[in-house]
Formats: sequence, structure tokens, C-alpha cells
Amino acid sequence: MFHKRIKIKDLLTQEPKGQEVTVMGWVRTFRNNQFIALNDGSTNNNIQVVVELGSFDESLLKRITTSAALKVRGIVEPSLGKGQKMDLKAKEIEILGDSDSEAYPLQPKKHSLEFLREIAHLRFRTNTFGAVFRLRHALAFAIHQFFNDKGFVYMHTPIITASDAEGAGETFRVTTLPIDGTAPKTEDGSINFKEDFFGRSTNLTVSGQLEAELGATAFGDVYTFGPTFRAENSNTARHLAEFWMIEPEMAFYDIEDNMELAEEFIKYLIRYAMDNNREDLEFLAQRLAEEEKQLPQDKRSELGLIEKLEFVLNNSFEKLTYTEAISILKESNHNKKKKFQYDITGWGMDLQSEHERYLVEKHFKKPVILYNYPAAIKAFYMRQNDGCEAGKQTVAAMDILVPGIGEIVGGSQREERLEKLVSRMKEMNIPAEELWWYLDIRKFGTVPHAGFGLGFERMVQFVTGMTNIRDVIAFPRTPKSAEF
Ligand code: 4AD
Ligand code: MG
Repeated sequence: MFHKRIKIKDLLTQEPKGQEVTVMGWVRTFRNNQFIALNDGSTNNNIQVVVELGSFDESLLKRITTSAALKVRGIVEPSLGKGQKMDLKAKEIEILGDSDSEAYPLQPKKHSLEFLREIAHLRFRTNTFGAVFRLRHALAFAIHQFFNDKGFVYMHTPIITASDAEGAGETFRVTTLPIDGTAPKTEDGSINFKEDFFGRSTNLTVSGQLEAELGATAFGDVYTFGPTFRAENSNTARHLAEFWMIEPEMAFYDIEDNMELAEEFIKYLIRYAMDNNREDLEFLAQRLAEEEKQLPQDKRSELGLIEKLEFVLNNSFEKLTYTEAISILKESNHNKKKKFQYDITGWGMDLQSEHERYLVEKHFKKPVILYNYPAAIKAFYMRQNDGCEAGKQTVAAMDILVPGIGEIVGGSQREERLEKLVSRMKEMNIPAEELWWYLDIRKFGTVPHAGFGLGFERMVQFVTGMTNIRDVIAFPRTPKSAEF
């Protein structure tokens, strides 16, 4: 058996009392031809392997270079040095993989996040990305735990679809037709997708919601957790062309039930990370504090990462309507001093991220749930509110905004009334024929239902304090970039 080893994280919880263990990992540093800091990715903490002078061949010692892969059998003893409670006194060292330390791009010094993005295949081996990606894993695990405990059914919705669930026209096309101009044409000269692989035009999904609604009207409560794709040309620190989304969908829920579940869910994830990944969070909190030292005073966060997360756990999210938000923004000094790049033109305008961030970061200083948006700026499937003022039709939409990120959740109560849904789709030019299956649900036992989508990477950003979304997904896909 080759892989019989103890993970360094587990080893470090033991008491050093002369036990023999085998560890495997990668060399972080090798000091004085004597002390190897070995890391295996289970924790940011290294085990210090002590190489007794004279007990190993010079030729072997030469091969112990930064990032070489080692198998070490040794005896665990209390450490004589400061900074660690144990040493692993090496009895046998096997070099599993050599590493040319001159050519190795990760030197034992501080590298910028921008540089590390260029070597994303190696950046997991740094403390920062070790912590970020262990937290990403923990949050993914917690998501399943949360919904499983509540009896939700995990649904795998299709990646390739023929619909645009958000109706925003930001889809990536999926085709096997040639792109050299020889694709079959229809009589009017447009491409004949009947000849395409699926016999119709298809794209990568932008959301699993429509299919999740089908599941919710049978199982009651379902959720999806999968990749989604958007061809929006947004080169920001919060947008990816490929991101992961969690979309719960619940029958017998109204917009208020929906808000409550979303708040409980976000708090559960934060609590889970605090309880299970404390060490990594503390490392990232420290990292963020150091990074912010370089910013001017007014750009620094008032709270450290852990204090921020605790604050979110201990306070209720602020709930207010879109209409109330517009009047707060209008009345704000920020607006009166003309400090917004985009003017507050009044009711009906779409909020820009600077407006959202003003509300959460400056005005309320905590997460905010905005609801009841103008119908005209929201998707076709959202439930039309009854009794609106003429010319001010709203829908039961909700967005959750958090400090530092802006929108993290988008959701709504869905339009369950067939006629209202069909007329809305007509107004918005959504092809009803193609969504016959979506409309069927409204014909056979329609029920009030609601759901939301949490952007997974934005949630990971919020918990880890990483300011750029490219640093919380292993291999980011953004405009003009699909390396690795
Ligand atoms: O607000 P969105 O577009 O809502 C939907 O897709 C609904 N179908 C969800 C639902 O009701 N089931 O997207 C939901 C969330 C956003 O709040 C944001 O966190 C994230 O997905 N998101 C993105 N994350 C990274 N990059 C992008 N380009 C994103 N677009 C949306
Ligand atoms: Mg949205």
C-alpha cells in the first residue's frame, strides 16, 4: 500500500510522543540543510521535518528543493524550536517528484494576486489560495447539508437548453454546425438549426430556475447547484462568464417566506465556515487587514473579516421596498452633491451597483433585502403585485445586497396565474410556444411558489474577503480569458 499516510492537519492535532508516521507533501522551504517545511494541502500549517546532519546522502539533500514532492517516514517528537509543537525526525526520505527550484514560479515571498492568476495551475500551493479553496469546498458542502436537513430534493437541471431563462439574451450558443460559412441555410438565408445536432438552436443555461419550478411543483422543495453561463461583457471584480449558482425553489411559498429562507441560508453558510474553517478564516482576515493597510483610511473596512461575519450573523437583514430605496437615494447627501456616476432619475430606473452599495455600505451598513421592483426592469416570470398605482406596476422580486459585493441573491415569487403569465410573456417577446412545458405547470394544479438564486462565487467572496471574483474560482472564465 503506497498511500498509507497521515494528513498533516490530523498529525498536528496529535501529541508528540515518539510515534512513527508517514507524511507526503510538497516542500515549502528547506533551511540550513536541516529543516524542511512540508505542506500537503490539508492545512496551511506545515510539519517541520528535521533532517539530522550526516544521516542522509548529500545527493538526496540536494534534491530537497522548493515544491519537490516527498514521502517522509519519521518519529514525532516535541519540537525544540519555537513556533511548532512537534517535529518529524526523518528516518526515511523518498523524493517522489523533483522540482527545479530555479524555474519554479512560486518563490517563498509575497506574490501579487494578479501574478498568481497567471499561474492559476500552481496558485493552490500558496497559503491564500489554500485557505480560499478549502473554504469554497466547505461552503459547497454546507449548502447540501442545509437543504438536505430541510428535506429539499437536489435537482440536476440541464446545462444545454433551448431557452433563455432570464430573457436577457446573454447566452452562449451550442452548435455542431460549421462556422466557416458553409452551415445549412433556410430559404430566407438564415442558419437552419433544424440541421443542427439537437434539431434546434441551443445554448448553455443561464439559470436552472425554470426546470427547478417543474420539480418544485412535484416535490414541494427542490434546489439546484450547478454551473451557469452568461455572455455578458462585464469585466468587473464581481462578474464571471461561468459561475456556479444555487437555486432553491419552493411550492407554497410567498415572497416573504422566500426572503426568510434566503436570510437563514446565508447565515447558515457563514456560521458553518466560522465553526468548521476557523483557521483558514483567521488567516484570510489577517491577509485582508494587511492588504487594507495600503489603502487610504476612508477606503478601509470598518470591521475586520471575522467581525464583519459575526455582525451579519447577529443582525437582521434590512428589508425595504424598491420605492423606499429610491427615495432614500434621492434624499441622500451623496446624490445632492452629485457624487453618483449614474443619476437618480426616479421611480422606474434600474439600480446601478454604486446605488446598491451606497445603500448597504453607507446608509444601512448591513445586508439589505430590496423587494417589489418595477415590472419593467425584471424578468417575465416574476409575480405581478396586485393593487399597484397606475403606471407603477411592481413584481414580487427580491434582491439581497451585502457590503463589499452588492447583489448576492436575486429571486422572486413566481407568476402562478396562467393568463397573467402569458400576457406578460407577450409584452416582453418571450416565445410562449417554446416554453409550453413551463406554462403547463400553471394548468395542472398551479400553486403559489417562489425561489431565489445565490451566486456561489459572490458568497465565497463575501466569506473569504477576496475582492476579485477571479480569485475564488479555480479557473475563471471572463471576457477574453479562458486559460487553463
Ligand atoms: O439575479 P440573477 O440573474 O437571478 C437568476 O438567475 C434567477 N433565475 C435566480 C432565481 O430566482 N432562481 O442571478 C442570481 C445571482 C445574482 O444575485 C449573483 O449573485 C449571481 O447569481 N450572478 C453572477 N455571479 C457571477 N458572475 C455573473 N456574471 C453573475 N450573474 C449573476
Ligand atoms: Mg439579479
